[in-house]
Amino acid sequence: MSIHFDPDSRCFHLETQHSSYQFQVDPYGFLLHLYYGPRIPGCADYLLTYADRGFSGNPYDTGKDRTHSLDALPQEFPFQGSGDYRSPLLVLRDERGAFGCDLRYQGFDIAPGLPVLEGLPAVYTGADDAEDSQTLSVHLLDTRLKLKVTLLYGVLPQLDVIVRSVLLENQGAETVTVQKLQSACLDFVSGRYDLLSFSGRHAMERSLDRRPLLPGETRVGSRRGQSSHQFSPFVILADHSCTEDSGQCWAMSFVYSGGFGCEAGVDQYGQTRLQMGLAEEQFAWPLSPGDIFTAPEVLMSFSAAGLSRLSHNLHRCIRRHVCRGKYRDTLRPVLLNSWEASYFNFTGNSILDLADEAKSLGIDMLVLDDGWFGNRVDDNCALGDWTPNEEKLGRPLGELVREVNRRGLKFGIWMEPEMVSEESALFRQHPDWALTIPGKAPVRSRYQLVLDLSRQDVCDYIFDAVCAVLDQGNIEYLKWDFNRSIADVFSHKTRDQGTVLHRYVLGLYGILERLNQRYPDLLIEGCAGGGGRFDAGMLYYCPQIWCSDNTDAIDRLRIQHGTSFGFPVSAVGSHVSACPNHQTGRTVPLQTRSVVAMSGSFGYELDPAQLSEADRKAIPEQLAAFRRHAPLIQNGLYYRLSDPASDSVCAWSFVSEDGNEALIFAVLLESHGNMPAVSIFPRGLKPDALYREETSGRVYPAGALMSAGLPLPLGMGEYESACFHLLAVSG
Ligand code: GLA
Repeated sequence: MSIHFDPDSRCFHLETQHSSYQFQVDPYGFLLHLYYGPRIPGCADYLLTYADRGFSGNPYDTGKDRTHSLDALPQEFPFQGSGDYRSPLLVLRDERGAFGCDLRYQGFDIAPGLPVLEGLPAVYTGADDAEDSQTLSVHLLDTRLKLKVTLLYGVLPQLDVIVRSVLLENQGAETVTVQKLQSACLDFVSGRYDLLSFSGRHAMERSLDRRPLLPGETRVGSRRGQSSHQFSPFVILADHSCTEDSGQCWAMSFVYSGGFGCEAGVDQYGQTRLQMGLAEEQFAWPLSPGDIFTAPEVLMSFSAAGLSRLSHNLHRCIRRHVCRGKYRDTLRPVLLNSWEASYFNFTGNSILDLADEAKSLGIDMLVLDDGWFGNRVDDNCALGDWTPNEEKLGRPLGELVREVNRRGLKFGIWMEPEMVSEESALFRQHPDWALTIPGKAPVRSRYQLVLDLSRQDVCDYIFDAVCAVLDQGNIEYLKWDFNRSIADVFSHKTRDQGTVLHRYVLGLYGILERLNQRYPDLLIEGCAGGGGRFDAGMLYYCPQIWCSDNTDAIDRLRIQHGTSFGFPVSAVGSHVSACPNHQTGRTVPLQTRSVVAMSGSFGYELDPAQLSEADRKAIPEQLAAFRRHAPLIQNGLYYRLSDPASDSVCAWSFVSEDGNEALIFAVLLESHGNMPAVSIFPRGLKPDALYREETSGRVYPAGALMSAGLPLPLGMGEYESACFHLLAVSG
């Protein structure tokens, strides 16, 4: 049992292997958060302190007790109108226009398994899982509005993961408008914390930012209708002193792909509140009598052993309890993508040439990227017209697929189904299917508009259009792209415009779910101009996401380093591309490009015919190395061994769960005259064991490797890489 309720203290206790999470029902029916930290017995309600504090009001029913203030007490689900002036999770407006509600405890249920959220992705456990998961539902009621609120807590004890979400149900006779709803918060009565967030831009996503929290609110989020390149919907709160190996840290990862908000606030009493949920901007959801609204899930984890442990918890959870389908557990095909090989300039025959090259190198799959449909001569037109351009391909698409298959390769294809070009038959026929504001010229981006996925008819069209393509042949992979942010939030059909952005995401999930059901063996790779929708929500439908449009191996070190805090390597789409690199102009040795790409889903994105003879020879060897190490890379424990933003070397490793095997990669980022030896510090090895390095045969004491370091070979040039494969020989 991982969920307990003590009727005497009215304390809820959620237990995982290494953590305890507690909250209490107070005498007035308010839920007070108590504790989320290392596992403890008993109830931590001694942490609550009561004082008469000026300008911190008291609920009416506390009478003359002026020491009970929700402005000062830690809360489990803070709502506006309670007298708490910190940032709330719930803001409601009634039909008179009044803001505020008053939620009181009604009761609870405990059930086996995890919450299933209608129409939304969610962490799950399967019948075959050893995970002894449980769900707690806590019921609250506002008697004036007759609004029922259910707080859902799913506990995965072995993984040290707790998921939270919220259901609102209007049991009254009047409409209530939800102005703000966040899915989870954590209140801390003591401590000073850093917020770790992951920021970036197109082609340079998810760099780690770490800042101490000061009084006031620190916010990250996206109001773009997508989880965004700019901020990841994943954050960490950590003790100031927390490192990779020590200290306390808490993660929140939003299982959602649209706009989001995350706030970390420090209040007047030095208390910290972290919260996450749907973006507030352009959100107003009228909840009519009988309606239910479900807030997307937040995945939380706690580690008392530093950031690596926290990442491991999240990696395990996402790999096995978010990702689904055939490719959750099986090795994904290594692919050659046509984009950087030929952009829009290809014919069916040149694609077959690429396929021949791919086959001769030992690659598994050929992916035909943008440019194969309608009159798509460049990126200004034809989105929406998903009819293969047989003239350009020189044959029907089905025939091309067959010819690729005949060469012994799988076939994959690119689509961008959520978009429409004004220069397309689809737009001419259905201009009202695009999100545009009547009378206002729309904002274009990449010269395209966004289809209105808040409408079922549009979603049905998209589903049919995608199926019509996939049904033309044995297509085993789909790259699902999304290449602009949403700007004009107006649906020509959906009535309440404040619901459009969320309904859009629900529409997207509906289509992706139907595709998953209809094509259980299809590998879908998510993409949004690279990593503009890299989140746990998308990973429920596609087990890998193109991590960035930037394929430069050196920039990728930073991007993949930031991504690794919250997401497993198996989720990271990563390719070897040509040099000089098309985004940065940088030239990097093929071996380095290869170790960076194989620290992800691995593929190529270049024209092999342009490679030197030496590079062509190296590729089959790299593929063999990848295939050999893939189980360790995909399922091992990932360790960050340096910070590529500040260190002169970027190193990382994969260690088997039993600690007997480790694969370490290091890339030298700077080289200077008469270089001193640069050492890296492996982690996660068995400290008392000896390890033999496979290539050199040299035996190393692990304790020394981890404390005194491992010098990289002298003479390594800038951007060159080293690889160490260690196997325990004793201990
Ligand atoms: C986006 C993707 C690229 C490529 C192009 C095609 O930018 O991220 O990988 O597919 O679209 O237009």
